[in-house]
Amino acid sequence: MAADNCDKRLYDKWDKRWQAPEDNERLTIVGRGMFKAKKKALLAVLQGIDPGAICEVGCGLGYTLGFLQEAGYRCVGIDVSANAVQECLRKGLNARLQKLEDVTEEFDLVSSDGMLEHFLNFEPYARHMMRISRKYVLLIQPNYDSLSGQALAFLANVLRRQVNVYEYNYRIRDFVSVFADNDFQLIDSRPVFFDVCRILLFERTEV
Ligand SMILES: C[S@@+](CC[C@H](N)C(=O)[O-])C[C@H]1O[C@@H](n2cnc3c(N)ncnc32)[C@H](O)[C@@H]1O
Repeated sequence: MAADNCDKRLYDKWDKRWQAPEDNERLTIVGRGMFKAKKKALLAVLQGIDPGAICEVGCGLGYTLGFLQEAGYRCVGIDVSANAVQECLRKGLNARLQKLEDVTEEFDLVSSDGMLEHFLNFEPYARHMMRISRKYVLLIQPNYDSLSGQALAFLANVLRRQVNVYEYNYRIRDFVSVFADNDFQLIDSRPVFFDVCRILLFERTEV
């Protein structure tokens, strides 16, 4: 019950965050550079595998979902925020209002970009991602082990603390360890934009 209340509070914060999507779409030069680098690295990671059906969990305003759809991948985005989903639909993206916890179908690849670090305990949500994945899970996570990752987090905290949803400074090894404990092995770890964040690709090891 207590965990449900925490989730509800967090999900309400996300919906509020996406209330005026146009304010969130104004990217700085650094933001634009990061998105370009992320798109390039993401497509390079996916070229190495044949992902089939993809679920982009926490699609937000649809940046990553947009990259995936543009590149021709079969992809659906889900999000707990009605405002975010509405914006994705307005952009012509395939998105629906749904909680990760409620998904019952399976996908070949389950991805999320910038979602897990907002949970006080990310493990149950990582497990849900693994539960609905037939083969791969792909995460895009801030890299707090790099100086650039720490600098960006510091700046975001100083400049955008009022609007940003709080994030915990999990390390890449925290994700690797939780996935390894659940039979998902790290097969790619790719730095993005001076290693500000990392694309992590996990593959199911059990038969
Ligand atoms: C940083 S935003 C994602 C940005 C997005 N990846 C993009 O490329 O624009 C994280 C998103 O995860 C969503 N989210 C958080 N918990 C979720 C859950 N349990 N199920 C689905 N979406 C969730 C939030 O509503 C928020 O939109």
